[in-house]
Amino acid sequence: MVDDVNGAIRNPPARIVVGISGASGAIYGARTLDALNDLGIESHLVVTKAALLTLSQETDLTPDALTAKASVVHRLGDVGATIASGSFRTLGMIVAPCSVRTMSEIATGVTSTLLTRAADVTLKERRPLVLMVRETPFHLGHLRTLTALAEMGAVIAPPLPALYARPASIQEMVDQSVGRALDLFGLDWDAVQRWKGLS
Ligand SMILES: Cc1cc2nc3c(=O)[nH]c(=O)nc-3n(C[C@H](O)[C@H](O)[C@H](O)COP(=O)(O)O)c2cc1C
Repeated sequence: MVDDVNGAIRNPPARIVVGISGASGAIYGARTLDALNDLGIESHLVVTKAALLTLSQETDLTPDALTAKASVVHRLGDVGATIASGSFRTLGMIVAPCSVRTMSEIATGVTSTLLTRAADVTLKERRPLVLMVRETPFHLGHLRTLTALAEMGAVIAPPLPALYARPASIQEMVDQSVGRALDLFGLDWDAVQRWKGLS
């Protein structure tokens, strides 16, 4: 985030783009927005149509309740939105959860929606792009796509439970994964259970 000739950091923007796609785990996106609110970070949300399906199947949240958690909500088709341009400065982007379809679109640069365009912009601007890819099992094509994305600089952070943290509820399990993903942006969310070593 060095942005002038003297190497100084000038007004780093406290904002993150949040994409929610239609893999199982819409709650990861919802809790990401809650975490960013707790941390005082401006969130720019873009949600796919399939994500609205998983939201209704997996949670009691309405689309309005989800979008109310975001600072700014962008329409999926609005490729003229601020987050479609690299000149709009952000700390990066997280896709939580990230479907195979969305992952594949980002990997190819096809970017037919604002979500995948914003992810492409994040990569080209060399900002952190964290993809909470969720599918199981993976076939070889998935694994090759994941490798290509890692080679491009994306961080592949599947939402896998950290059982060492002894989660007592689904929310604790989700929050641990969300908090560890936000660690990748240098953010420290209170909900994270940090390993203190064996005593
Ligand atoms: C309840 C439900 C669960 C799904 N779970 C997954 C999943 O875990 N991973 C995945 O890649 N796709 C999953 N899908 C399929 C995606 O929603 C589908 O491929 C969709 O086209 C993704 O579009 P998007 O990337 O624009 O959100 C699921 C669909 C439904 C309805």
